[in-house]
Amino acid sequence: MTTTLIEEIDKARLPKHVAIIMDGNGRWAKMRNMERSAGHVEGVNTVRKITEIASQVGIDYLTLYAFSTENWNRPQAEVDMLMHLIVVAIERETADLIKNNVRLNMIGDFSRMPAAAYERLTRCMDDTAHCTGLVLTLALSYSSRWEITEACRRIAADAVANEISVADINDETVGRYLSTAGMPDPDLLIRTGGDVRVSNFLLWQIAYAEIYVTQTFWPDFDKDQFCRAIIEYQSRERRFGRTSEQLTQ
Ligand code: FPP
Repeated sequence: MTTTLIEEIDKARLPKHVAIIMDGNGRWAKMRNMERSAGHVEGVNTVRKITEIASQVGIDYLTLYAFSTENWNRPQAEVDMLMHLIVVAIERETADLIKNNVRLNMIGDFSRMPAAAYERLTRCMDDTAHCTGLVLTLALSYSSRWEITEACRRIAADAVANEISVADINDETVGRYLSTAGMPDPDLLIRTGGDVRVSNFLLWQIAYAEIYVTQTFWPDFDKDQFCRAIIEYQSRERRFGRTSEQLTQ
């Protein structure tokens, strides 16, 4: 089943970077009269499957919105459960990440994370630091406005210290001060769960991303649906502000 869809993907026109807003865990659980936490547990299994297929397809960067700055406002029990799930899942999967040559990366405001969770996740990052295949970035305690504000603060500090000149600040400078520095911008942004919004995720970086929204809740999102999103992406004409005629010239 997956093999046929993978074969439909044009390997010469792959998105380099796919970013995903994983949404719908709670609704998935509610539909089944289960606790929200059951949706998050199942969501972790989807993370595993989608990392596998992204690596198999040959995607270079996969960035997952695992926990937003706003998520700190959820009931404490849910926050604790999510943190625990993420840490345990990453620790459990580290050996497999290494086997599959996947490098783990994290972006976000870690000052708000429990120190123990942060330490355990950094250990997993260190353990996969030598991997050269897919870069799996978890956005944890992340919000784009936080990231852009931090970048502004650091740019201003460097300008005051004469490390950079104000006149030279351009798009590329800003990109270097974001937590995604060194990564290409996402070509494709997938959102599961049906809501059509970007929820404070990579606002600067998705300037020209193709957006793909599916009604499917994250726990039900599977390898085939990931392939379908890539195939849909490949059918789009990316004009970057130009005309169709200019592109064919
Ligand atoms: C949104 O569903 C999902 C989250 C807030 C958390 C997503 C996190 C995981 C799937 C675990 C990640 C694990 C690893 C290993 C990275 P929601 O609760 O907002 O669902 P709803 O919109 O239906 O309420």
